[in-house]
Amino acid sequence: MKSATANIAFPAMAVTLMFLWGGCLTANVSYDHRSLIIDGRRELIISAAIHYPRSVPAMWPSLVRTAKEGGCNAIESYVFWNGHEPSPGEYYFGGRYDLVKFIKIVQQAGMYMILRIGPVVAAEWNFGGVPVWLHYVPGIVFRTDNGPWKHYMQNFTTYIVNLMKKEKLFAPLGGPIILSQVENEYGYYEGAYGEGGKRYAQWAANMAISQNIGVPWMMCQQWDAPPAIISTCNSFYCDQFTPNTPDKPKIWTENWPGWFKTFGARDPHRPAEDVAFSVARFFQKGGSVHNYYMYHGGTNFGRTAGGPFITTSYDYEAPIDEYGLPRFPKWGHLKELHRAIKLSEHMLLTGEHSNVSLGPSLEADVYTDSSGACAAFLSNTGNKTDMTVVFRNASYHLPAWSVSVLPDCKNVVFNTAKVTSQTSKVEMLPEDLKQNGKKDLEWQVFTEKPGLWGEADFVKNELVDHINATKDTTDYLWYTTSITVSETGRSPVLFIESKGHTLHAFMNKEFIGTGTGNGTHPTFKFKKSITLKRGRNDIDLLSMTVGLQNAGSFYEWVGAGLTSVRIEGLNNSTLNLSESSWSYKLGVQGEHLGLSKPGNSGAVNWTLTTKPPKKQPLTWYKVLIDQPSGNEPVGLDMLGMGKGMAWLNGEEIGRYWPRKARKNYPNDECVKECDYRGKFMPDKCLTGCGEPSQRWYHVPRSWFKPSGNELVIFEERGGDPTKIKLSRRKVTAETS
Ligand code: GAL
Repeated sequence: MKSATANIAFPAMAVTLMFLWGGCLTANVSYDHRSLIIDGRRELIISAAIHYPRSVPAMWPSLVRTAKEGGCNAIESYVFWNGHEPSPGEYYFGGRYDLVKFIKIVQQAGMYMILRIGPVVAAEWNFGGVPVWLHYVPGIVFRTDNGPWKHYMQNFTTYIVNLMKKEKLFAPLGGPIILSQVENEYGYYEGAYGEGGKRYAQWAANMAISQNIGVPWMMCQQWDAPPAIISTCNSFYCDQFTPNTPDKPKIWTENWPGWFKTFGARDPHRPAEDVAFSVARFFQKGGSVHNYYMYHGGTNFGRTAGGPFITTSYDYEAPIDEYGLPRFPKWGHLKELHRAIKLSEHMLLTGEHSNVSLGPSLEADVYTDSSGACAAFLSNTGNKTDMTVVFRNASYHLPAWSVSVLPDCKNVVFNTAKVTSQTSKVEMLPEDLKQNGKKDLEWQVFTEKPGLWGEADFVKNELVDHINATKDTTDYLWYTTSITVSETGRSPVLFIESKGHTLHAFMNKEFIGTGTGNGTHPTFKFKKSITLKRGRNDIDLLSMTVGLQNAGSFYEWVGAGLTSVRIEGLNNSTLNLSESSWSYKLGVQGEHLGLSKPGNSGAVNWTLTTKPPKKQPLTWYKVLIDQPSGNEPVGLDMLGMGKGMAWLNGEEIGRYWPRKARKNYPNDECVKECDYRGKFMPDKCLTGCGEPSQRWYHVPRSWFKPSGNELVIFEERGGDPTKIKLSRRKVTAETS
């Protein structure tokens, strides 16, 4: 067995040697139809996607180590343009966005790096990773043969390539990067963009090639990519995948070992057996580069979640959980599989391949050489019946929907359906918030008034698009108007229609309810009986985005916000307010005053109290708390709260919303037991019906100091802050 880390391992030594002998440890990366060839040697790549801004730098070394211990030899990440270029030409690479630091940690671990530069990433990341300001550049249309788009896209990707070159991070310069990606799943959308789409795909590919980075470029799902670009597969299964031309290796950029969640939806669950089955089938059929998307999903801190409605947690049911701990049995089962594949690596990459039918849905793929060495993968792709097969005069038991790995064509070292790894019990141990060791907390409370909190930003006789107004500088947009009535009406009803995503409605400064869409249908209607008084009545509507669209053709044009407001039942007629005079205010006042910044009172009158108000909308809560005990990762338990945002010491925890998971259709039940056999789809084995889609919100340990930590909560619709807890994630090993 070859060492996957040859040539770039032991970076401390590598750096010294390179200094002395001028880059002699650099690596040449090429490929043929079988595999990548690194410095003349074939390498089988088992890669783990870990998106650097979805955790914190303090977690990076252990995440990378846990991936390596799990049997991976590469780390993969997208590059997140909107994090790196928050405004045109101003670049940011600090904190969670320290890309160079992240790649150097991968290098120090002796692992390879796969860099998916984008610029569009999808990834359930806000606006697909593209800065929102770009949408407002005159004449721009994303992802097509459009001058402004190509200009900005080329600037950014070239900036990243130059940075990687400067830091010597490409393999030929001594770094860990062995593969790069330009664009993302463009082939899916190319058709929708017509001829311009075709020209753009070719242009993007040629631009990438001309960067001359010395490692292969790939473009996933790009069947018409030019010869120098490798088209790759993204899916739950890629065993049937054939790359664009016969001289290319089979690369699976995204094997989804779980799935993401949206607020209000149930929990998708992809069992370890099925993930292992898909991986084993890929290698059985000659695959040689495989990446788990995600291996660690992590957290959509702040307002980075895409959408709409993607949760703050991006756990993804990945082999490493959101909090950075190995997930059992998935992590362990896949580790065993990686070991079995590694034992077969030499034959998989060099042996002669033959396929033998062992019966219906039963087959063996055998890799042999002239010395008599042999490795085989036996599979049963039937989804019902376990079978016994005869292979090379021996009989083997093959459970339905499983693959056995025989690195010597005799002994089964692994079967995907037989989980022998440990399992574990995961608990979120609640811990009361404490202040200087005591449970009696002194809170600071500030409640905003609904509606305009200063001069209107603009006034219009129409309902404007929410995103065009805020340009996503905030989730919040106030739509305010008033009506004057002489009669109060018998039973007036307020009707609102919205393109999405969510709305809190206030009548005469009183909260009257929330309207919301969901991840599948962002648009919604809101209907509520109201009481009017004679004279002036204020209508204040707080419209909210919950993460911007992150994928799809022309996704950047998807709007949000109110489209119709009317009052019915007023003097037997309908009062249409859609073209009334609306005064708009961007954001809520506390955002404007920077109340989430540590030590900033915002010059507002905070009320000091040990009994913070409950069920009070538009309320800011501040409290100084101690670090939780122990050293386990920490989740903020927001079960008692409504919807809002949270920060610790000025760091953005993100949006919280313990919204309960509902069924979309009558038959959308949750499952008690998941029969993984047969093709997986995200709605196959759902759990968590009636539970909040997300109750706990990851607060990285590195954000805490021993005491005096400033927790700031902005609650939009009303909750009970005394129920907030910090829970410690405790994992106890069990042997199955
Ligand atoms: C893919 C996309 C990824 C991610 C994934 C779902 O189509 O390339 O970025 O969005 O779907 O998690």
